[in-house]
Amino acid sequence: MSTPSAVPDVVGRLRAAGCVFAEDEARLLHDAARTPAELDALVDRRAAGEPLEHLLGWVEFAGLRLAVEAGVFVPRRRTELLAREAAALAAPGSAVVELCCGVCAVGAAVAAAVPGIDLHAADIDPVAVRCARRNVPRAHVYEGDLDAPLPVSLRGRVDVLVANAPYVPTEAVGMMPPEARLHEPLVALDGGADGLDVQRRVIAAAPLWLAGGGHLLIETSGAQSPHTAAVMEAAGLHAQVVRDEERDATAVIATRPPRTSEP
Ligand SMILES: C[S@@+](CC[C@H](N)C(=O)[O-])C[C@H]1O[C@@H](n2cnc3c(N)ncnc32)[C@H](O)[C@@H]1O
Repeated sequence: MSTPSAVPDVVGRLRAAGCVFAEDEARLLHDAARTPAELDALVDRRAAGEPLEHLLGWVEFAGLRLAVEAGVFVPRRRTELLAREAAALAAPGSAVVELCCGVCAVGAAVAAAVPGIDLHAADIDPVAVRCARRNVPRAHVYEGDLDAPLPVSLRGRVDVLVANAPYVPTEAVGMMPPEARLHEPLVALDGGADGLDVQRRVIAAAPLWLAGGGHLLIETSGAQSPHTAAVMEAAGLHAQVVRDEERDATAVIATRPPRTSEP
């Protein structure tokens, strides 16, 4: 939109609503709006607490601009750690699976960093699946519960299995910022009593899909990481915690030992 002054005090309204980066947000909303009335409505919605990314329709992740429709989980910058570690373990031709993929931010970043991977992704949220298909047109994206929709042909063939599954303990969901609590699906946030319910299911499923020497990577919190790692070890995987202090990000990377029949 080319008439910035047509809508009064956009920055002030955003700042009054608690937007820390009000100037940046004003510029982005201004670019997204086609008319002053549209900008006015976007500012109202942002001031009422809708995530900026839902209003813009995109999020920046690992240098990519990815589609996010209203109502889906918005990929967080901290998850770039998971994407970076997954990319480091993938090679052209690798079979890479992202479970609980959301809009497939991790898968998209790995595919961008490592051309030629065979990428499969799945999520239970149909809106997330629609975004994932837009974001990574070459990936096979399935809708369903965890690994249930994956093709059986992938069993024992997956080199990198990655998941940022919900890991907020149920009791803590109510303390999350309203942007998340009110505008992202509960299924994307709630990880059960200790936050590890969905992770445990992913870890239990992993040995069926991983190739010998294949890797499972899961985002978790710093406090939960020893527990995530212990569940992986109990499943026969060798686990290692990695941290990125700058992003306050934690991931646990586990490796499946080579199968006994393999050299
Ligand atoms: C924390 S969000 C992360 C999304 C994405 N991985 C990311 O980092 O942006 C968790 C995702 O798990 C999905 N999810 C939760 N339970 C699931 C289940 N049982 N089967 C498949 N997906 C599930 C949610 O729909 C949501 O998209």
